[in-house]
Amino acid sequence: MGMKDIITIDGPSGAGKSTVSKLLAQRLGYSYLDTGALYRAVAWKVKKEGIDPDNEEKLKEALSIIKITLESGKVIVNGVDVSSDIRTGEIGEMSSKVSAKPVVREYLYAIQREIGLKGRVVVEGRDIGTVIFPESENKFFFDASPEERGKRRHKELSVKNSDTSIKDTIEDLKKRDTRDSTRDSAPLKRANDMIYIDTTNIGIDGVVEKIISELKRD
Ligand code: DC
Repeated sequence: MGMKDIITIDGPSGAGKSTVSKLLAQRLGYSYLDTGALYRAVAWKVKKEGIDPDNEEKLKEALSIIKITLESGKVIVNGVDVSSDIRTGEIGEMSSKVSAKPVVREYLYAIQREIGLKGRVVVEGRDIGTVIFPESENKFFFDASPEERGKRRHKELSVKNSDTSIKDTIEDLKKRDTRDSTRDSAPLKRANDMIYIDTTNIGIDGVVEKIISELKRD
């Protein structure tokens, strides 16, 4: 199977991965896998069960009963549609914490491989080009200035009536980035075989065009 039809996009929060991935998938007639949503789904469950994310035994227990499914853009956890509930700052923070745990990463590894190996897919996350699909031949890494990323995240959150200031959003984001990039287990990392795109000053369409022009095809 050709590894050119799994497009991977990694980068920190607010770099524009989700917006661009969705649009790119639409343009190519590909499907789209938002792996952050899987970590957020686990975080949602952990929070609902009142589990301490540092308690590995409890975490394992939670993973043994959780059932995550992705259905036409919706995230379903044990039959409950959590698509909207997982998009809060609180779940973002919890997802970053649980994502540092190897048991969680192992659990989600298989799910991501199974979905992605169907091919013709855009997969976005933090370790997609390095750990989940290292064999992909179309890997991208996005970044943008912390101020721009903070602004974007703040805009997303304020749609949900969050009253956090931009300054606090930038601080939270920096904290999360540091945790995501310095953890032992599959940290966010830009690898040499990824095409780097700084999205600070390019519009969404510009980024999509750039990717399309860089794609290796059969
Ligand atoms: O992209 P996001 O904000 O929805 O991701 C939420 C958290 O999940 C993020 O802080 C780190 C973690 N994550 C990860 O560790 N690996 C991925 N492939 C995707 C997300």
